Amino acid sequence: MADSLTFAHVTDIHLTEAGESWGTLDDLAEDLFARVVETFNRMDGLDFVLITGDVVDTASPAEVDRFRELIAPLEVPWHFIPGNHDGFYDPRVPNALPPHEAVSRLDPRLADPPPIPQQARWSRPVAADVQLIGLESRIADDWGGVIDAGQMAWLRAELEAHRGDDLVIVAVHHPLHMLTPLNKEEWWCNFVCSNGPEVEALLDEFPNARLVISGHHHASQIVQRPNGRLHVVTAALSGYPCVYRLIRLTREDGAWYIRVETHSPANEAERRRAYDRLITGKTAQKYNSTDPTAWARFVEGRPEDRFFEGRLG
Ligand SMILES: [Fe+2]
Ligand SMILES: [Fe+2]
Repeated sequence: MADSLTFAHVTDIHLTEAGESWGTLDDLAEDLFARVVETFNRMDGLDFVLITGDVVDTASPAEVDRFRELIAPLEVPWHFIPGNHDGFYDPRVPNALPPHEAVSRLDPRLADPPPIPQQARWSRPVAADVQLIGLESRIADDWGGVIDAGQMAWLRAELEAHRGDDLVIVAVHHPLHMLTPLNKEEWWCNFVCSNGPEVEALLDEFPNARLVISGHHHASQIVQRPNGRLHVVTAALSGYPCVYRLIRLTREDGAWYIRVETHSPANEAERRRAYDRLITGKTAQKYNSTDPTAWARFVEGRPEDRFFEGRLG
């Protein structure tokens, strides 16, 4: 049985060659990702890196190849679940790879079965009695997410198979919970998994499923359910606030304790540029047209969304 586990969470890198990307610092994405890979290689005791999707922006062959080049020097194991940008049809990008080809090239471990949306799911042990389950929330033709009936059945079987494990961690691109009441509304609902409550109800049946990790919303938030399960949503690496997380789990006296830290590879000038870009973007306008800086505060999160220490379950 593992006594401790340390991993890094990186999400929404949006590597792009198109000159524009989804509200991110497109020209800095490669650099920021290269910096975090270097940082991870210098760290002692890092068990793995978890990447929860949107690593590229349009899934062109050049973007996909660039991701492979940038991840190659990473010296610890890494795990990847695709996001909506990791393979989708965009008429403005005629050379974009079909979704299943893009995902297969980003991570050849996901090539079989063909990783069409909902299929690039996996379940792997990451330590003794600790299982990491990667859910696949992409849908075929939009940027919203779901866990469909087939995948729900697969998830139930996987959770049953690991009911005796000490800890189960779930990774999913689209958050399972609403980060803001706006997530009930049209357009904003695409920021979360449309049947997140159903997935959470299933997880509730398995007390060892204590941690859920997500991206996609480009906002940092940490929520703890009454049963102690922690939901960690991390903001984008390449858009304000340009962050990744370090997550340390330790087991003491039969309980798991967690420490979530938030770090940025960007310097102050870069973060300032990311901030300016964010508050002039359309999402900031939609969030609060009279005060677009409110969106910056939201994505950065409250202090308790940036640092958390406590018991799981
Ligand atoms: Fe994203
Ligand atoms: Fe996304």
